[in-house]
Amino acid sequence: ADFLAKMANGIADDLATTALLATDRPILVAPAMNSRMWANPATVRNLALLKASGVMAIGPAHGELAEGEIGIGRMAEPADIVDTIETALDGPLQGIRALITSGPTHEPIDPVRYITNRSSGKQGHAIAAACARLGASVTLISGPSSEADPPGVETVHVETARDMLEACLNELPVDVAICAAAVSDWRPAEAKAQKIKKNRRDGTTSPSLELVENPDILATIGMHGNNRPRLVIGFAAETDEIISYARAKLSAKGSDWILANDVAPHTGTFGGDDNKIHLIKRGAGGASDVEEWPHTSKTEVAAR
Ligand code: C5P
Repeated sequence: ADFLAKMANGIADDLATTALLATDRPILVAPAMNSRMWANPATVRNLALLKASGVMAIGPAHGELAEGEIGIGRMAEPADIVDTIETALDGPLQGIRALITSGPTHEPIDPVRYITNRSSGKQGHAIAAACARLGASVTLISGPSSEADPPGVETVHVETARDMLEACLNELPVDVAICAAAVSDWRPAEAKAQKIKKNRRDGTTSPSLELVENPDILATIGMHGNNRPRLVIGFAAETDEIISYARAKLSAKGSDWILANDVAPHTGTFGGDDNKIHLIKRGAGGASDVEEWPHTSKTEVAAR
């Protein structure tokens, strides 16, 4: 508990804490302590701080403690610690560059109003975190979202679809692109420099909005001439006829896989923690295969 507190606050008053403060390599902690120390709000807060800055943690486990009590606080089993270290340092995605889009975009109408899509960013951010955990070098291009920047990921914040596209193109070449953002299909043709007034001088009360189409980021990457990633993955959020729309999207957007998810209101997918995926893969000769995934958490979908 003491050591986590020092690490969380950047204290470096012995060799170990000094080495940790001076490293830019991944750090994994395997805490072990008395159960009440573990549950203490100070420890909880310190661990949350460490995790937010990219420190990985394993354990502690439940069992017999040094002081003779039974509870949470035993150091994780050494074999599990070794497994975790191996994945973190030598994960299967080591050397892979991944580009991920997440969240909605905001398309300004005037300085105070915008149009957007429903999206929490939970799925895209979880994918970025999962890729980083498996050793990939990850850039996340995120629209406005209340999700925290994932640990170990370079996160670029953007507002509009056009900004998102530019940020993505700046990252090419990459090995894999995963477009999970809910990009607004349209934007107001002109974003007014001043707030549009409710009571307008010409007597009309409701302004009309002219919309123009936004660039399609997934399609631009999927059909990129020189720098198409080896694997291009898109999402298809549909409320009906999920598979057939997703199949059409696979070829229309030059992607290799489409993860189709059911966002009909009764599913609770929007803003929720769970997702139901149908994976559609581009097959030989224009064919496509469909794989059904169980209804599971967005974190589990990301890992898979
Ligand atoms: O066309 P639709 O929005 O249903 O397609 C969904 C997929 O396309 C998602 O992967 C989404 O991130 C991507 N997309 C995009 N740029 C757009 C529209 C959608 O990258 N302008």
